[in-house]
Amino acid sequence: MDIQQPLSLLGGLTPAQFMRRHWQKKPLLVRQAIPQFTPPVLRSELFALAAQEGVESRLVQLAKGAWKLRHGPFQRRALPALQQPDWTLLVQGVDLHNDAVHALMQQFRFVPEARLDDLMISYASPGGGVGPHFDSYDVFLLQAHGRRRWRIGRQKDLTLRDGIPLKVLAQFEPEEEFVLEPGDMLYLPPRYAHDGIAEGECMTYSIGFRAPARAELAQELLVRLAEDAADEGSPLLYRDAQQEAVPQPAAIPAGLQDFARDALARALAQPLVLERALGEYLTEPKPSVWFQPGDAGVMLEGVRLDRRSRMMYDTHHVFINGESYRAAGRDATLMRRLADERRLSARELARASDDALELLSSWCDAGWAHVWAE
Ligand code: SIN
Ligand code: CO
Repeated sequence: MDIQQPLSLLGGLTPAQFMRRHWQKKPLLVRQAIPQFTPPVLRSELFALAAQEGVESRLVQLAKGAWKLRHGPFQRRALPALQQPDWTLLVQGVDLHNDAVHALMQQFRFVPEARLDDLMISYASPGGGVGPHFDSYDVFLLQAHGRRRWRIGRQKDLTLRDGIPLKVLAQFEPEEEFVLEPGDMLYLPPRYAHDGIAEGECMTYSIGFRAPARAELAQELLVRLAEDAADEGSPLLYRDAQQEAVPQPAAIPAGLQDFARDALARALAQPLVLERALGEYLTEPKPSVWFQPGDAGVMLEGVRLDRRSRMMYDTHHVFINGESYRAAGRDATLMRRLADERRLSARELARASDDALELLSSWCDAGWAHVWAE
């Protein structure tokens, strides 16, 4: 993507300008971000997705002033009638299930893939909404069908209402209000308070991001480092030939503390171990994702990544779906191109080494990639 090219998606800003001025900083309202937008998912298709096992869905209802939340899957008859006001069905990760939605999400890849999470679709009956709240992550709210009234504010008081199953702000103080029509889009930075209420039946697409939490990331990386360290042959045991007899047996020996510190330092000192663990973690498929084995075969045509595949790279590796590979030279260039563009033409593949072709073929075999004819 040319990050210096003004985009109607960003109201005429270039991705570079958007990131500098708005990302994690301030909202942006874009009228007709996608002109003549035709939503790729019909209401009936969304309801069918919400009925599937392995698709995360929620139903939020406001009835007689009380918020109710239920988790899917939902059979159609478990959803309220369309004429009934004030309910919302939210379906997470639609990009994993629909190629057109996945393609729509690719327009936001001026943000690093490591930060992109999923595309959620909400369907609301008239008056439906999830209450005034804030999210911890950035979000682009793209109006797909019908109209939604958004009220937003830089709320200081983020206290939540007690005793309800949803995160709803106790004292919402909106500062601005907009009605979004199909194709309009609102970007909100993390923790910006918002409340969207459907004016008639409406569907909203949320392009959501993820940001690792420091503690969770440390935990994930340490588990992977420990697995790597455990793979290194026979375990090296703590030895204490010089240990003296102790009158206070419960005291932990200082030598054992040093051994522990050294164990961690050694695990971290392995070249590239942290980089590898991070790439594997970031490309790990979501728990609900499984791949159908495809057909291997010779790469005479191009290749494209499956929409569920996560592929990234760093200076020394390429990562795909939680696996890492050392890559250098021409093959690395090619694999990086595949990760960035999510496809390689037959012409590009013609330059691949036999090893790279074999790897690509095994990915096709696993259903991570598919043969692609331009
Ligand atoms: C919705 O689409 O109803 C809710 C999206 C949000 O407020 O984050
Ligand atoms: Co929100």
